[in-house]
Amino acid sequence: MKKLVLSVLAVSFFAAFSFAGKPFPPDNAYWNKTFSKLAEYQLTGQSKQLPLPYAYNALEPTVDAKTMEIHYSKHHAAYTKNMNDLTASTDYASKPIFQLFTEIEKYPVGLKNNAGGFYNHLLFWTIMAPESGQAPSGDLLKAINETFGSFDKFKEVFGNAGKKQFGSGWAWLLVKDDGKLAVSSTPNQDNPLMSTTEVRGIPVLTLDVWEHAYYLNYQNRRADYVDAFWKIVNWKEVTRRYEEALKAVK
Ligand SMILES: [Fe+2]
Repeated sequence: MKKLVLSVLAVSFFAAFSFAGKPFPPDNAYWNKTFSKLAEYQLTGQSKQLPLPYAYNALEPTVDAKTMEIHYSKHHAAYTKNMNDLTASTDYASKPIFQLFTEIEKYPVGLKNNAGGFYNHLLFWTIMAPESGQAPSGDLLKAINETFGSFDKFKEVFGNAGKKQFGSGWAWLLVKDDGKLAVSSTPNQDNPLMSTTEVRGIPVLTLDVWEHAYYLNYQNRRADYVDAFWKIVNWKEVTRRYEEALKAVK
């Protein structure tokens, strides 16, 4: 009898949180379906680097031309080539990498590192732009204020995620399954799209805190690099990604 009551309670609990076909907590199938609504779902393990959307020296003085050149033409190029090589002649060569991310534990760790490196940098290039005094506005600013208290507080929380990430990794602003914003950090080339990442969602802003992203100009001063990053955030693109993510999680 006790077992029956517990079962009924359990069924009721999960039924209550599984409305509209959305499981609680969101499972890999939910995330794959959600990601499939994003334009970048077309990316596969055979995708190539997209052209950098600006010149190597366009983000100076925040990011120097030499760092951009090495970062794009050596590091990002290597992640892309390695991903292409690892997926060639496999049955997942033409599968969307976002789908692979939702069950990344099933694949070789080299794929996680290199497909992560391929996508994280592709995203990173788009959310930066030459210094223009841009700032968030509209619904995105409202959501930032609601979640973090103020834009300055958000910058502090995101900045600390980057500054305190031990070793190499990334800081993230992401949209969770409930449409709310969150800040997180990940090690290596992990990202919030991956099934192995604790805080899952759709990333809309990111910062590379690997030493290769800043060492020539800032040496060991990662905090200075993180603080300078705000001058070159492409808020127009972050807003576009935020709006796309909100539609996808609905
Ligand atoms: Fe990088």
